[in-house]
Amino acid sequence: MNLKGKHIILGITGGIAAYKSATLIRLLVKAGAEVQVVATAAALEFIRPVTLSALTGKPVISEFFTANTGEWHSHVDIGLWADAMVIAPATACTLAKMATGVADNMLVTTYLSAKAPVFVAPAMDLDMMAHPTTTRNLAMLAADGVHVIEPASGELASHLVGRGRMEEPEKIVEVLDAFFGKGKTMQGKRILLTAGPTIERIDPVRYIGNFSSGKMGYAIAEEAARRGAEVILVSGPTSLSVSHPGITKVDVESGREMYEACLKHFPQCDIAIMAAAVADYTPAEPRDKKIKREHEDVESIRLVKNPDIAAALGREKTSEQKLIGFALETDSAIDNGREKLSRKNLDAIVVNSLADAGAGFGTDTNKISIISADPSQDITTYPLKSKDAVAADILDYIETL
Ligand code: CTP
Repeated sequence: MNLKGKHIILGITGGIAAYKSATLIRLLVKAGAEVQVVATAAALEFIRPVTLSALTGKPVISEFFTANTGEWHSHVDIGLWADAMVIAPATACTLAKMATGVADNMLVTTYLSAKAPVFVAPAMDLDMMAHPTTTRNLAMLAADGVHVIEPASGELASHLVGRGRMEEPEKIVEVLDAFFGKGKTMQGKRILLTAGPTIERIDPVRYIGNFSSGKMGYAIAEEAARRGAEVILVSGPTSLSVSHPGITKVDVESGREMYEACLKHFPQCDIAIMAAAVADYTPAEPRDKKIKREHEDVESIRLVKNPDIAAALGREKTSEQKLIGFALETDSAIDNGREKLSRKNLDAIVVNSLADAGAGFGTDTNKISIISADPSQDITTYPLKSKDAVAADILDYIETL
């Protein structure tokens, strides 16, 4: 319902998923949006322009000029007209052109002129999707502020099974709807957020780490930024990137580095959310040369405790600041959560249990409970949801604090 009256440029590129464009247009138009298709020449090999123009009520734009009339299509005007530009399917070729600014067709030229937010829904075979070039191009686009609607895994047109299938039109419309629907309810707030694992060096080639993927923390960062917050994301090593310009990412490696970054930024923040899986211990004497099996008989490594970041912020926090922790437990989740809530002086703690299917590290879903330090609120439990939806629940909760 947030798409009503919105002007959407639908960029279509030459992949088999272009056949889904008809459904996508249908859904956008049904939601009240006006759609202008800008298609590459290759896209029109997969889907006929008459299908597209019949659904949008507007001629398809593909070339800079209409050949027989000589009419010029202004990429600048179309770019300014749009409230959002969506490129679906986005092939590896178009993503590469967008990442590097190769404006050799109407679609990429329009992208370069568009002032509106841009979304891409990649679609390609799994090997192309997994290629470092594609990963690099997507990371560059994300850094430029392009929203990447991640492809799904499943059977591909090649009959191979893997990641690369364009997200379903229903889901793409949902993403756009949510984008336009979000109120800027966290405008003016500055949020410090930790995410991912920390890694603790043993020697130059080995470390102590954990299975945290960072997905939950990154989902919170994106959602908070969409709500207008300024987010400082202090992240341990992950394979994730951020797309919203409201997020400033501070990369750290060890728990000690994360601690120092957090202490530096916390005084300027209104809210701190501790979603990182910080290593509790670190090698007491990390070696600067590789430990050799033959020459040294290492049977144990002496460890020392890392600083507890959440507890340190709990001691520093003023009455104006809110501090939210996480507890991932294997057993007695709620009891352990309560204990950490009070020991670290948190305002609330998000508890999840590895005992729940679909919760925990690496998954795209999570199942949480939130315990409040305010005894009148106590505990709120939520069903299993996508990490994006869980991020929204957590921020809705924090907004009530
Ligand atoms: N945390 C932190 N710094 C640490 C350890 C934990 O900031 N050195 C934060 C986590 O980000 C999380 C909360 O504290 O928000 C709870 O983390 P957890 O590892 O469960 O707590 P621990 O006190 O380390 O307890 P456990 O013995 O279960 O590991």
